[in-house]
Formats: sequence, structure tokens, C-alpha cells
Amino acid sequence: DRLVIAIDGPSGSGKSSTSREMARRLGLAYLDTGAMYRAVAVAFLDAGVDPADTDAVIAATTGADIELSLDPDESWVRVNGRDVTAEIREPRTSAVVSTVARIPQCRADLVARQRALMDAAPSGVVAEGRDITTVVYPDADVRLLLTASEEARLARRGTELGGRLSASELRDQVLRRDRDDSALVEFQTAADGVLLLDTSDLTFDQVVEAILTLVKE
Ligand code: CDP
Repeated sequence: DRLVIAIDGPSGSGKSSTSREMARRLGLAYLDTGAMYRAVAVAFLDAGVDPADTDAVIAATTGADIELSLDPDESWVRVNGRDVTAEIREPRTSAVVSTVARIPQCRADLVARQRALMDAAPSGVVAEGRDITTVVYPDADVRLLLTASEEARLARRGTELGGRLSASELRDQVLRRDRDDSALVEFQTAADGVLLLDTSDLTFDQVVEAILTLVKE
């Protein structure tokens, strides 16, 4: 039987690292939907269109060819045939990703692509993002919203970025994206049937164990 696990959460909630690990442990595919939003943001930057020109943004992003690894042990993303694995994490990409994510046509296009990828995974998939439990795959076998205090999320992002940003830059980046994203999804309360897990005081291993326990239930 196929197993589909949907995990949502804000930046720094630990959803990417734990989702990847869950996929490894359970032998499932891993889908990072944020990487797809980031990939079309790169396509939009490449196209050089005016961010205020919504039609041009829609054309550049919905027309983009996205390929990405579903292997939890191998991470790569290609846009229009070009490898953008590193570029999608750059600050200039992070700065525009919410612009794209706010446009309903761009979201609808990515949601359809995400569902198709999830449906095609033979033994199942762990998919993570902002709207997987509610919009992309509300029928998932396990639906989870990870949250964490602002303090814990800032600390995790700081570690992930390897101290490349000052404390105030980091704070600005994380909190600004939270604000930009808050119009998209409600992070603090879980939708009906979605389990809420506050990871603030849990280690990585504890979060993984907690989710594995849920899966076995
Ligand atoms: O870097 P972080 O883990 O916080 O975010 P991400 O998962 O890489 O997603 C980057 C951005 O894509 C988010 O800030 C959202 O604007 C958008 N996104 C979304 O709108 N819906 C999703 N399912 C995933 C990401």
C-alpha cells in the first residue's frame, strides 16, 4: 500500500530536515514543494520581467519546465534545463519567492504539478510545504503541522545558513518571509484532522521519533 505523509510548517520549524529523514527511514519519495516555488522564482528572475506585471510573472512561471529529485539522498533542481540547486537558496531568490507564491495562478499551477508528482510515487511520498495538508493533499494518510517558537526558528535558520548572516539580517529575513507568507497560510492553528507538533523544545531525533510513532498508529 502507498503511504502519503503531508507536513506543513513555517521557516525554521524543522519540516525539511525531518521530512527528508522520514522519507529515508520509510523508503518513500521526498517532495520539497518550497524548492518548486523557489525554482519558478528563479525562472521569473531569469525572464527579467517586472514583478508588478502579474501576467508576465504568470507566463514566466507557469511556462517553466521544472525537474527535481524525489530521492531524499540526492537533492537537485533544474529549471528550463538549467541546474539551479544552489541558486534557489540564494538571498535574491528568497527575496522574490513570496511574490510568486502570492499569485493564485502560479499556486494553482504548482499545486497541480505537486499532486501529479505525489500520485506518481510508487510506494508513496513525504511532501512538505505550506499547504500540503490543506490544499495539495488533504487526503494524505498522515497530516502534520510543525510549529516552533520564533526564537527556536531563528536559531535553526541561523545554523542552516552557517552564520552567513548577522543576527539582525537573519531576523529580518525570517520574520519578513513569515509576514509575506502569513497571507497564504495560517501557521499557528492546524486545520481539521491535522496534528500539531510544537518542535521548539524537541531535538531533531525526537521530532523524527514522534512522527514515526504517529505513522505506525
Ligand atoms: O526556506 P523555507 O524552508 O522557509 O521555505 P521553503 O519551504 O523553501 O519555501 C519558500 C517559499 O515558498 C515560502 O516562503 C512560501 O512563500 C513558498 N511556499 C508556498 O507558498 N507553498 C508551499 N507549499 C511551499 C513554499
